[in-house]
Amino acid sequence: MEVIIQQDYDQMSKIAAQIVVEVINAKPTAVLGMATGSTPLGLYQELVRLHKEEQLDFSRVTTFNLDEYVGLGVNHPQSYHYFMHEHFFKHVNIPPHNINIPSGTTSNYPAFCQWYEERIADCGGIDVQILGIGSDGHIAFNEPTSSLSSRTRLKTLSKQTIDDNARFFEQRESVPIYAITMGVGTILDARKLILVASGKAKAEAISRAVEGPVTSMITASAIQMHRDATVIVDDEAAADLTMRDYYDFIYAAKPAAPRF
Ligand code: F6R
Repeated sequence: MEVIIQQDYDQMSKIAAQIVVEVINAKPTAVLGMATGSTPLGLYQELVRLHKEEQLDFSRVTTFNLDEYVGLGVNHPQSYHYFMHEHFFKHVNIPPHNINIPSGTTSNYPAFCQWYEERIADCGGIDVQILGIGSDGHIAFNEPTSSLSSRTRLKTLSKQTIDDNARFFEQRESVPIYAITMGVGTILDARKLILVASGKAKAEAISRAVEGPVTSMITASAIQMHRDATVIVDDEAAADLTMRDYYDFIYAAKPAAPRF
């Protein structure tokens, strides 16, 4: 796992966007795994800027989102469909039929989840998966005690996640308690992972995910098992990392490292 610590949110977002750009440049038909939430907003803004100012082309790209709230339709302002459309999809040139987001309103969740897994496989798997992290250590909506080999399924949110996400809703009671989410196993199948985190509220979760034991109590810790995972954090989110000097040393030495 590579850990990159940047001084602020903007730098964190730019470094993360650069990795996505490298994937698209190497493979114009790349399959991107998308996350929602406040953290990847800067990363999406940078990708939109690169599309508008530097002709970054998404015309052959396919996307799969990690999760969606159960019960929210695509036009609900707090749905992840709406979020992705407003903050990213309407600003770039991904063909609508290449955009995949779990349905929060299907009449048959098990069948939909199986279909979503099959669709990812049919598209050749995810080349790079963007991830945020919950303050309870979740990735996607894989809450504490989720199986580390779980697949896309319906999940009940933790109290902490409901509290954290209440800021987006008018009242806490409006936060859905169920979500449909890719599993930890689904995420680990992606060829590359990028996890972004910002702010001191994420410091403990980041230290436990990066330096703690691999445990279903912190599902983000499962990325330690992945062969190509990069964690990009700002100073505040890095505050509890004990190996920080080493991560900085590795990053500074990277340009001169032998490539083969
Ligand atoms: C959302 C998702 C979640 C968020 C996490 C952090 O698609 O997968 O795991 O990444 O809850 O959310 P923010 O970035 O709002 O702190």
